[in-house]
Amino acid sequence: SKKAVLGPLVGAVDQGTSSTRFLVFNSKTAELLSHHQVEIEQKFPKEGWVEQDPKEILQSVYECIEKTCEKLGQLNIDISNIKAIGVSNQRETTVVWDKLTGEPLYNAVVWLDLRTQSTVANLSKIIPVNNNFVKTKTGLPLSTYFSAVKLRWLLDNVRKIQKAVEEDRALFGTIDSWLIWSLTGGARGGVHCTDVTNASRTMLFNIHSLEWDKELCEFFEVPMKILPNVRSSSEIYGLMKAGALEGVPISGCLGDQSAALVGQMCFQDGQAKNTYGTGCFLLCNTGHKCSVAIAGAVVRWLRDNLGIIKTSEEIEKLAKEVGTSYGCYFVPAFSGLYAPYWEPSARGIICGLTQFTNKCHIAFAALEAVCFQTREILDAMNRDCGIPLSHLQVDGGMTNNKILMQLQADILYIPVVKPSMPETTALGAAMAAGAAEGVGVWSLKPEDLSAVTMERFEPQINAKESEIRYSTWKKAVKKSMGWVT
Ligand code: G3P
Repeated sequence: SKKAVLGPLVGAVDQGTSSTRFLVFNSKTAELLSHHQVEIEQKFPKEGWVEQDPKEILQSVYECIEKTCEKLGQLNIDISNIKAIGVSNQRETTVVWDKLTGEPLYNAVVWLDLRTQSTVANLSKIIPVNNNFVKTKTGLPLSTYFSAVKLRWLLDNVRKIQKAVEEDRALFGTIDSWLIWSLTGGARGGVHCTDVTNASRTMLFNIHSLEWDKELCEFFEVPMKILPNVRSSSEIYGLMKAGALEGVPISGCLGDQSAALVGQMCFQDGQAKNTYGTGCFLLCNTGHKCSVAIAGAVVRWLRDNLGIIKTSEEIEKLAKEVGTSYGCYFVPAFSGLYAPYWEPSARGIICGLTQFTNKCHIAFAALEAVCFQTREILDAMNRDCGIPLSHLQVDGGMTNNKILMQLQADILYIPVVKPSMPETTALGAAMAAGAAEGVGVWSLKPEDLSAVTMERFEPQINAKESEIRYSTWKKAVKKSMGWVT
């Protein structure tokens, strides 16, 4: 049969904490043509530890690429039209592998992992309070979240890694580096690189000089020889060495949250977006980066740990049945509290329970928690920027949940605006890949996409009620703090 004729196509890997996806876009219209998704296992070997298997992650990328190409074939679309691939990824998650064998030397230590709490406490004692050079150089607070301390833990505790470093065989990378190295040939000539957005989340990267920082590497005792080369987010890093897309250049790379900022076309000062993934991440293009640790993860917890829903989508049905939490508040501080509290001692709580409370109220409270956390970040960001946001642009899997979106508008008390094509993370990575020098197939400008339809959610409760609910939430947050010492 005759294959459909299209303009050049661009693929994007979206490697998130919960799943991996590969998506293919038409570079002339930004239309999503096909995609495939595979869920990723999370391992919790000890209290507070979160790991993933780097080989499973790599395998999932290959599987998603193969399956998407098959689906394109069924649509009569020729995969030789795919001219470039972009990579967007869960940030901070830390991998160390052997460059001679291509084998990971330990599981990936995931951004949510808390094993470095004591390392962070000890390091904080060394830094004089009024001379926080880590924050000045990186823009980040010293926290278990970022890669430097995870890498420090691996160097201290894994004999195989110590030996590989001594023998010059060890390479470090966040998920983008691990994937690009593996996809461009691995032990047979893979390219060891990262991009500025991912590097900026390691706590080893100087955001002013845009280089790895010698002083920070000394402070965290990280050997600079194992670090990847830092490249721009849009350039050809190398070619795919295997699979259905062998020979296609990988020419875009961004941490998933930065990719979504690009995909939402937030190119002007003060524009912001909030992505509802495993966590919830609000980024503003002035460079302020804030994050909520637990968003989609709370739904997965209700599904996997409590079993009150069978699929993630079911939460909307439960919440809708009652339309209120009936005074129940759920602070899902499973891995402590992140921005704006940065409080690793916090743990999750559900409070305000009565004999009347049932699973529907808890489901509602879980959704409300995501919205309250976003409000906390937005308030902090408004204080920093001085100009309050007039509306919030949103994307991510959870934005399909209409109750969540309405609640978010009610709690922020500004409209929430969602693009009809919510895959903005992948779109951002595809735009970077397609626009790279030597590829040059993506020339769409924000105004070309003005036809993209938006769904708008306006606040529907009164301001007073919104404030009362928010201040009760803050009371609940206080109760979650200082749980572990
Ligand atoms: O900082 C971690 C973040 O990049 C993870 O994103 O989409 O997996 O929640 P996501």
